[in-house]
Amino acid sequence: MEEKKTVNEEVMKEAHCQRFDPASYLQYNFDPLVKLDGNQSYLPWVLSCYHRAFAQGDINGELLVDIGSGPTLYQVMSGCEVFNKVILTDFLEANRQELRRWVQDEGSSSLDWTPYLQHVCKLEGRGPSAWTEKAAKLRKAITDILPIDVLLPQPIAPGAIPSAGADCLVTSYCLEAACPDVATYKKALSNIGTLLQPGGHLLLLGDLQESFYYASPEEKLPVLTLNEAQICASLKEAGYTLISLEVYTAGPEERTWSDDSTASVFVKAKKNERIKK
Ligand SMILES: C[S@@+](CC[C@H](N)C(=O)[O-])C[C@H]1O[C@@H](n2cnc3c(N)ncnc32)[C@H](O)[C@@H]1O
Repeated sequence: MEEKKTVNEEVMKEAHCQRFDPASYLQYNFDPLVKLDGNQSYLPWVLSCYHRAFAQGDINGELLVDIGSGPTLYQVMSGCEVFNKVILTDFLEANRQELRRWVQDEGSSSLDWTPYLQHVCKLEGRGPSAWTEKAAKLRKAITDILPIDVLLPQPIAPGAIPSAGADCLVTSYCLEAACPDVATYKKALSNIGTLLQPGGHLLLLGDLQESFYYASPEEKLPVLTLNEAQICASLKEAGYTLISLEVYTAGPEERTWSDDSTASVFVKAKKNERIKK
């Protein structure tokens, strides 16, 4: 009889260690010709969510930390206009290397982020040629690219970020890729909360009713299937107050593309001043 492998934390980690290739993930999921200039509206929606969140004026401070950055940069392109310091993090060294290659600007990145930078400049009311300034600003703001494991009570090595914590965390599609069940998801939210100042903001981008995503056309990686109520309840129990939640429902042409989710959510929450036990 075939042995059934239960999806646990180690299985989720192994899936990324063995089967996640940064270049394939970027080429398959972030080709700007398809994602920004094609007939898909999902990534423009994501970029506008981040843009609006940082333009509202209530999210500010010194340090922004991105949790589980993967090999991507779109999620910090608006935040670097507000925060002088941005720290990127990921579980995989290959992803951290990919990010370092972009920061070092040696022309060896697996994806040209120019169309994304131009798109965000446009949202900010600047001409597309302002993208070079934005790229320089983002490169200057990224002060570190750190290893992280959201499943640990102390997800980042002690002393790697200031003890006061970040003023804002962003995280996109990381927690559901790391957690095998809702209890662990809740724990991961509270683990990353230790990196955030009380009263600091969390911007979380995730998928609804997803069970896998394509890391490349050949690699389907498992993710935790979540609904809106589970995300909201987990945030509350992990010590955050929900401020807003936006839902994007994918059109039929987008559904078969990168995963089996029915919709995406963009959540803005605040870490409670005092966590109730
Ligand atoms: C679907 S990718 C998302 C990448 C990127 N944030 C994005 O928006 O495209 C999931 C990411 O979660 C990371 N990851 C998986 N398990 C993790 C863990 N235990 N702690 C931190 N990151 C983890 C993977 O290395 C991968 O980069």
